[in-house]
Amino acid sequence: MKKILIIGSTGQIGSELSIKLRSIYGESNVVCGYFAPPFPENFFEAGPTEEINALEKEQIASVVKKYNIDTIYNLAAILSATAEKNPKLGWDVGVGSLMNCLDVAKEYKCSVFTPSSIGAFGPETPRDKTPQDTIQRPKTVYGITKVLGELISDYYFQHWGIDTRSVRFPGIISNLTPPGGGTTDYAVEIFYKAIKGEKFVCPLKAGTFMDMMYMPDALDAAVNIMEADASKLIHRNAFNVTAMSFDPEMLLAEIRKHLPNFQMTYEIDPLKQSIADSWPNSLDDSCAKNEWNWQSKFNLETMTADMLANLREKQK
Ligand code: SER
Repeated sequence: MKKILIIGSTGQIGSELSIKLRSIYGESNVVCGYFAPPFPENFFEAGPTEEINALEKEQIASVVKKYNIDTIYNLAAILSATAEKNPKLGWDVGVGSLMNCLDVAKEYKCSVFTPSSIGAFGPETPRDKTPQDTIQRPKTVYGITKVLGELISDYYFQHWGIDTRSVRFPGIISNLTPPGGGTTDYAVEIFYKAIKGEKFVCPLKAGTFMDMMYMPDALDAAVNIMEADASKLIHRNAFNVTAMSFDPEMLLAEIRKHLPNFQMTYEIDPLKQSIADSWPNSLDDSCAKNEWNWQSKFNLETMTADMLANLREKQK
């Protein structure tokens, strides 16, 4: 049975990944490392927790030693738009946590998952059906840390056999913990407004296409890549994965099938728009499909229905 440490377990992905991993591997085998609130419900009761500043390598090492950890999910990151406002923080968290995790993994023989992102691409990258192996010249500090993360993770595998694996996540749509300052956040925020019967002011222009994924698929990707048969992996850091690609108008139309009176206007955020314009419209995830049987389950229609049903339930 794996013994897992999650760094960043109170964030958008971590708060749900911890539940998923505990349901698979047993609650006592998944240690939730936390740095900042908000703490999800029952956070301290649901299994082992440890306060960890991912920028302090010794803190990670002592938890890895204490629990005999063999797998680290390193989810610490400052998302794209926030990192552009504070590039030093974006760099320090993105690179610092990664290097500490890799060095601890080297010492204690752990596997490491550190998500990459569609942000690892840039304006020179082919925009449609973006290939697995292609030009990566991101223009954000977030994207630069992700490319560095991909390269150095492969380096640790090639030189020291550290089992590093990763996926390039698109925008993740979820309803437990909100994302914190990403370019794709609009696709989450719109649902909260829709369910309250309020108008949504969209920060991105109509026609801005980006890849997106519903959280259950993102969790499957994070689990399945780490369970994949290593002998079948040609790539490691990091696999393109996607589930859907849409623009604000398509999302609006889908929500309106459930809430016909829902209104949206536009007030473009120049920073987010410029970041979105530099990212792909849609990824080609055939390498993930071929090498570890990646397959998403939710599309725009089923994700929208499920998001609205879940948020309605929470409103009661
Ligand atoms: N969701 C992230 C962001 O928008 C992209 O990986 O920053």
